[in-house]
Amino acid sequence: MSIPGDALLCYCRPGFEPELAGELSERAALAGHPGYARTERNSGYVEFLGADAGALTRALPFQSLIFARQKLVRIAELRGLDPKDRITPILRTLVITLSNAYTFGELWVEHPDSDEAKPLAGLARSFGNALRPVLRKGGWLTGVDDPRRSRLHVVFLAGDHVLLAIGEAGDSAPWPLGIPRLRMHADAPSRSALKLEEALMVLLSEKERERLFREGMRGADLGASPGGWSWVLMRQGLRVISIDNGPLQEKLLESGRVEHLREDGFHWQPRTPLDWMVCDMVEQPRRVAERMATWLREGWCRHTIFNLKLPMKKRWDETRLCLDLFEKQAEKTVQLRARQLYHDREEITVFATTTSLSRP
Ligand SMILES: C[S@@+](CC[C@H](N)C(=O)[O-])C[C@H]1O[C@@H](n2cnc3c(N)ncnc32)[C@H](O)[C@@H]1O
Repeated sequence: MSIPGDALLCYCRPGFEPELAGELSERAALAGHPGYARTERNSGYVEFLGADAGALTRALPFQSLIFARQKLVRIAELRGLDPKDRITPILRTLVITLSNAYTFGELWVEHPDSDEAKPLAGLARSFGNALRPVLRKGGWLTGVDDPRRSRLHVVFLAGDHVLLAIGEAGDSAPWPLGIPRLRMHADAPSRSALKLEEALMVLLSEKERERLFREGMRGADLGASPGGWSWVLMRQGLRVISIDNGPLQEKLLESGRVEHLREDGFHWQPRTPLDWMVCDMVEQPRRVAERMATWLREGWCRHTIFNLKLPMKKRWDETRLCLDLFEKQAEKTVQLRARQLYHDREEITVFATTTSLSRP
C-alpha cells in the first residue's frame, strides 16, 4: 500500500532541533529526495516536507537516524479545534486522507517532550480514552492493541492544535514519545548505567543482544568510575577491566568479576583481544572517535559502545565528522549505529562492531 502523508514528523531532545533538521536535510538530499525542515527551537520536534512523503520515509529509515527519537509520517494538521468536539474533525480528516483503507493496531495520543507541551499530558490521556472506542467502532482500530500494525498518532501541540500521523511498525520507536522508560536499579553505581542499558535496548535487537553477550566474555570500560557501565556489562555476563583514576563502587569490586586499573584510557591496551570495549570518557569527540577506531583496527575488541560528547555549537557537523573519521581510521568493515538516547544529554551514543549483523 502506498504511504499517504505530506511530511515526516520526528521527535528529538528539546534544543536539538537544528541537529535533527540538519541531519534530515542532508540525508534526504543525498538520497535524491530533497526537502526542507520546519521547526522551532526547544519545541522537541521537526517536520520535514518534501515532494513525496512516501519516498522520504523510505529514504530515511528510523534506525539510521541519530537525532530522531521517533519518526512518523504526518497525514494532517488540524488547527482551531473546538474543545467541545475534537473527535468529529479528526474522523472527517481520517476519511479524507485515508479513505477507510487503514485499520491501525494502536492509538497513541501524545505531545512533544518540550516544556511548553508537557502540560498537555493530562489532556492527551483523557482524549485518548475518549477517542479509542470511537475509532474501534468505526473500524479504524483493531479490537485489541496489535503492535505489529501501523499506529495512529494524535499529537497535541496545543489544546486546539493537533497533528495526525502514522507510525509504521518496524520503522519507528516502539515507545510513546519515543522514550524508553527505564528504572534505575538500586544496585547501580550511577545513573549513567541507564545510558548503557538504553543503548543496548535501542541500538541492538533482542537477538543481537543474545548473540553478542555471552557468559564469560571479556570487556573493558574506559572512564569507568564510579562503575555504572561496568555494572551493566557484568550483568550481561562479562568479566570487566575498568579503567579510571577515579574510584569504583566497592560492591562492584567485591563481585570478583571486575578488575580496576588506575590507567589512562587513551593509552591503556589489553594484553589479549577482548569481546567488548565501552567508553564514557569526557573528552573531545574527535579524540575519542580516533581512539575507538584504533581499538577496532588493532583487533583489541570486536564490539564497542561509546559516547561522543557534543558541547560545541555545530553538533550535527561534528557528529558527521567524528563518525566519518572513526569509519576511515578503523580500516575495516564496521557496522555502525548511533543515536542520541533519551538518557544522553549533550552527547550521542555509538555502537560499532566488526561482526556482520543484519538489521531485524
Ligand atoms: C561520565 S564519567 C563515567 C561514568 C561511568 N560510565 C559510569 O557509568 O559510572 C567519566 C569518567 O571518565 C574518566 N576519564 C576521563 N578521562 C580519562 C582518561 N584519560 N582515562 C581514564 N579515565 C578518564 C573520569 O575520571 C570520569 O570518571
